[in-house]
Amino acid sequence: MATQKSTPKIKALVAGNWKMNGTGKQLAELRKLMTAVGRRKPKADIMICPPATLLSRMAALKPKGVALGGQDCHANIAGAHTGDISAEMLKDAGARAVIVGHSERRADHDESDKAVRAKVEAAHRAGLTAIMCVGESLKQRKAGETLKIVQAQLRGSLPIDCSAKNTVIAYEPVWAIGSGLTPTVAQVEEVHNALRKALLRRFGDEGAKMRILYGGSVKPTNADELMAVPNVNGALVGGASLTAKDLYGILKAYC
Ligand code: 13P
Repeated sequence: MATQKSTPKIKALVAGNWKMNGTGKQLAELRKLMTAVGRRKPKADIMICPPATLLSRMAALKPKGVALGGQDCHANIAGAHTGDISAEMLKDAGARAVIVGHSERRADHDESDKAVRAKVEAAHRAGLTAIMCVGESLKQRKAGETLKIVQAQLRGSLPIDCSAKNTVIAYEPVWAIGSGLTPTVAQVEEVHNALRKALLRRFGDEGAKMRILYGGSVKPTNADELMAVPNVNGALVGGASLTAKDLYGILKAYC
C-alpha cells in the first residue's frame, strides 16, 4: 500500500484518456470499474474520458464514483465546424471536464498554445474543468529544454482567471506516452516542482491548490512510485485505462 507523502491537502485525480478506442462493448469495463470502486473506494477522484460517441451512453449508466470527461472541444459554442464538438455539447452529454492541449492534438492538429487557451476558456464558459496538458519531446529533453518548454506552454495555454476547481494541469512527456518509458522519479519531481512554482506565481493561492497530474506510461506496476512524488496529484492514463483491472490497479496507489 502506498502512502502519499506529498501535498496531502490536494485530493488526487486519476483520469483515464481512452483516446480513439472503444465501442459499445467497452462499456463493460466501466461497469467493472464501478463494481471495484464500490467494493473499495480509493482516496482519489476517478474520471473516464471516453470517445465522444460513448459519453452519453456512459452517462446513462449513472456511474457512481466515476466522473466523465471529453477529450477535446472546439473554442466556439456552436456553428459551422463540421466534425467538431463544443464544450457545451460535452457538458450536455454528461461530461464534467475536458482534456485540452493533449500532445497528440498539438501534433496531429497543429494546435498552438493560443488555440489551447481558447479551448480552456471554452471549457470554463461551459462550466467544465479543463485538463490542460503540457510536455516536452525527446529532442527537447535531450537539449535540456524541458522546463523552458513546459513553462512556456503553461503561460501560453492558460487564461488569467483559472481556479483550482476549473483547471487541472497534466504533465505528459511526449516520449513517455504509449512507449513504456517513464522519466525517473527525480525528473518527474523537477518538472512538477517547476510547474507548481509557475502556478503559484501566476495564480497565487489557487495555484497552490491546482492539481498537477503525471501522464505517460502509468501502469499498476509504477503507479505507487510515481504517485508518491511531491506535487504529483494524480495521473492521466492512456493505455492502462482501457481495462478496469489496470485502471483499478493504478487506483490502488490511493487505497
Ligand atoms: P499512455 O498511458 O498510454 O502512455 O498515454 C498517456 C496519455 O497520453 C494520457 O493522456
